[in-house]
Amino acid sequence: MAEWRRKRSIMRLYNASADCYDGLYGEEQNAKIKAAMKRIRLDEQSCALDLGCGTGRLFDHVAATAGTVVGVDISKRTLAAAKNRCRGLHNVSLILADADYLPFLDGVFSHIFALTTLQNMPNPLRTLEEAERVAKKNAVYAVTGLKKIFSQNQFLELLNIAGLKIVTFEDEESLKCYVAICIKNNIETSLC
Ligand SMILES: C[S@@+](CC[C@H](N)C(=O)[O-])C[C@H]1O[C@@H](n2cnc3c(N)ncnc32)[C@H](O)[C@@H]1O
Repeated sequence: MAEWRRKRSIMRLYNASADCYDGLYGEEQNAKIKAAMKRIRLDEQSCALDLGCGTGRLFDHVAATAGTVVGVDISKRTLAAAKNRCRGLHNVSLILADADYLPFLDGVFSHIFALTTLQNMPNPLRTLEEAERVAKKNAVYAVTGLKKIFSQNQFLELLNIAGLKIVTFEDEESLKCYVAICIKNNIETSLC
């Protein structure tokens, strides 16, 4: 109950800021997305999940190359902004859902993006575990950790406990987030 109360207040916060979100944070978000995308290759087989997709900034970077892109967010008004952005992008779908209870079967997605999302979650480990449930075995994860919420050690520990192996890690001074590209611990990849 306490968990849902927290989520509901976050949902209201993002609903209220949906119209000004891009103006306030667009550049900052773009910088993080670019840092993550330096390491990620997508193709028409790629099925990408954007957890907490917000206004859909990531779509500008992935929709042209990925086969399918799915954005999930808990905020209806934020999704409305994302819908505007992806008008005409026929491979992008938007779903109103809680990232901790994803309405997908197991093992669907080749790429998981959680960009500036985990700081909102009452239990970020649970969120990562749910992401791993819907990810393919050899999926690539782009996860960021907001520096004002997670120390570098806390963020690394979170990824480690979630069973994710870090392929690249950026802690650029100009970014407000750490940017980690990961795979599951027991998987080899040539993707990044
Ligand atoms: C800081 S914004 C980041 C948006 C986007 N990833 C970006 O990089 O621009 C965080 C987003 O997470 C969403 N969010 C918060 N809690 C969520 C939850 N439990 N499930 C799904 N989305 C959630 C918010 O509505 C918001 O759109």
